[in-house]
Amino acid sequence: MTALLQATPDRFAAAARRVMARCEELARVSAMSGGIERVYLSPEHARVNRLAAEWMRELGMRTRQDAAGNQIGRLDRIVGDGLVPDAPALVIGSHLDTVPDAGRFDGIVGVLVGLEIARLLRAPLDDGRYGVPLPFALEVVAFSDEEGTRFGKALLGSSAVAGLWNDDWWALTDAAGTTLRRAFLEFGLDPGRIGEAARRPEELVGYLEAHIEQGPELDRRGEPLAVVSSIASARRFQLTVEGEARHAGGTPYDMRRDALLGASEAALAVERVCRDEHHIIGTVGQLEAFPGAVNIVPGEARFSLDLRGEFDGERDRVWDALSRELDAIMGRRRLRWHAREVHNAAAVMCAPLLQDVVREGIASTGTVGADDPAVIFSRAGHDGMSIGAITDVGMLFLRNPDGVSHHPDEAVSASDVALGIRALGESVLQLAADRGAGA
Ligand code: GLV
Ligand code: MN
Ligand code: MN
Repeated sequence: MTALLQATPDRFAAAARRVMARCEELARVSAMSGGIERVYLSPEHARVNRLAAEWMRELGMRTRQDAAGNQIGRLDRIVGDGLVPDAPALVIGSHLDTVPDAGRFDGIVGVLVGLEIARLLRAPLDDGRYGVPLPFALEVVAFSDEEGTRFGKALLGSSAVAGLWNDDWWALTDAAGTTLRRAFLEFGLDPGRIGEAARRPEELVGYLEAHIEQGPELDRRGEPLAVVSSIASARRFQLTVEGEARHAGGTPYDMRRDALLGASEAALAVERVCRDEHHIIGTVGQLEAFPGAVNIVPGEARFSLDLRGEFDGERDRVWDALSRELDAIMGRRRLRWHAREVHNAAAVMCAPLLQDVVREGIASTGTVGADDPAVIFSRAGHDGMSIGAITDVGMLFLRNPDGVSHHPDEAVSASDVALGIRALGESVLQLAADRGAGA
């Protein structure tokens, strides 16, 4: 195939070096000493938005922070000598928030790759000319809350953009008891204006995202890039087990109603039930005992459950099976349990056309496996899960050594980032050609 993106290998390499340097710079914006943590509506969120806005302005983008704290940069469509301010936009995005003790690349690299593509398309010929007349506007969006670290509910930023905001979420609280509503006000956002973040399908051409794989498949195949076929569906729950707190010395075993042991057995049941399934993954990532003293049998335990699957139906069937297991475990131990669902996102299929342009983008790089790239379903969540409600979604995975992610050792190589920029930039031009470039 003929590559449409005209740039020398040096140029992609320089773009990738800038991405890597900026990942380091963003990693320094952290609430955690000795590690990275940047959560929704925090001072760190405000700082990285300011940095991203500066980088966007440097590219000649119009910038704004929307009503949900997402940072947006836009290059208007050009026709002749004039700008078309309301032209529908192709959005390239990912997120700048992180999990606790995070790596440097999850989400971040996708935003920065988007900026480099904007730079290449703006002036691919090195002579300052806007070289590629796109038949749409190009936006880069840095979403503000993909991980859900602060409020448990993930995808808050992209849900607002997708018009999926649910007013019940205002009462969500963080670990310090701050409500989402209060956090909005403290950040300087007006909860009453949240609807203004929503985009209409007619404003958008599609959504493309580059992301590290967060799994080992590409590394095992020895290939740098993959087409994403779909994004797994997810549900998250906060569960509470109630027993009775009593003296650790004086309470015989047959009189104990130990909530922590019930929760522990439940965590093992999650592993057992999910392992028997092909495509369902369950994780208990938080577990706390109350009152939490060495000499008291725990009277209450709280734990989280993150449940994912390729298909919503299978995921829901497994939750029903787990609920029956929990009834049995807690019944045997004379405990009570209840669950509060804090997140529910349906699986999203990547649009066939966008899978095709991502495949063509990969092919244009001529890299290992480029002729027949891996097609992988994403077990991790992405902003595309909500954006899929308003426009077509396409994703490109970058090799993630050993599949290590949500950990400080998370990695991606500069050479793979260079290939990713090239592949996704080419995807944009393939899509433009498909829609009639300059039309
Ligand atoms: C986000 O990375 C998630 O999959 O939880
Ligand atoms: Mn993540
Ligand atoms: Mn991510």
